[in-house]
Amino acid sequence: MQSKDNTPRIIIAIDGYSSSGKSSMAKSLAKSLGYNYVDTGAMYRAVTLYAMRHGMIATDGTVNADAIAAALPDIAIAFERTPDGSQHTLLNGEDVENAIRHMEVSNNVSPVAAIPAVRHNLVEKQQAFGMEKGIVMDGRDIGTTVFPDAELKIFVDASAQTRAQRRVKELVEKGIPASYEEVLANVVHRDHIDETRTESPLRRAADAINLDNSEMTIEQQNQWLLDRYHEAISKLNA
Ligand code: DC
Repeated sequence: MQSKDNTPRIIIAIDGYSSSGKSSMAKSLAKSLGYNYVDTGAMYRAVTLYAMRHGMIATDGTVNADAIAAALPDIAIAFERTPDGSQHTLLNGEDVENAIRHMEVSNNVSPVAAIPAVRHNLVEKQQAFGMEKGIVMDGRDIGTTVFPDAELKIFVDASAQTRAQRRVKELVEKGIPASYEEVLANVVHRDHIDETRTESPLRRAADAINLDNSEMTIEQQNQWLLDRYHEAISKLNA
């Protein structure tokens, strides 16, 4: 599929650790290119919120994987563009954009994302979003599992401390209370579960380009990403 000026529209996979800033980068790139943006972490968070609301996660964090797997047909996830240009996640039609960012959801999401039935269901939905190309998708397994043939794959990393600081800032800006220690512990714990689960663990695709953005400003990251996009397009045209 091509855009009006005949530039091919491609799939851009941005994977990396939690709070590495990949969502902001992915969003900004999608906006610059006129591409669709899909935050796959939001999809795992929405399933987690549904499970919490329906008593499928005990207060000690024990997850009822069978109940969650059985509920998947009842869980509809969509994205909606708001008038201010930001994107909100809808769970069965309800705007849950704020609710899915709360610490309780962050604390429960990794075990839910490790359930094979949940992964299969969401990966299928993500692949459907990419049918038309012209998409930027961020997550953990986009370059390895969802779109192994993506024309551009980026793997983003930054130290756990940098990521925790960013996350606290983001949460505070949204009016969600958060302590640095709690967020750092959550980031480290989630990294571990995401890297060690058996079903599509967080792993850099062999052909992904690495980006360590610990020392980069947002503007530098955006420019870096646009440069990689232009390189990918010239390779296709070569
Ligand atoms: O990017 P995030 O922090 O919003 O992601 C939330 C959780 O979902 C995270 O613990 C890992 C999981 N996730 C995943 O397993 N696969 C993806 N493609 C995206 C997120």
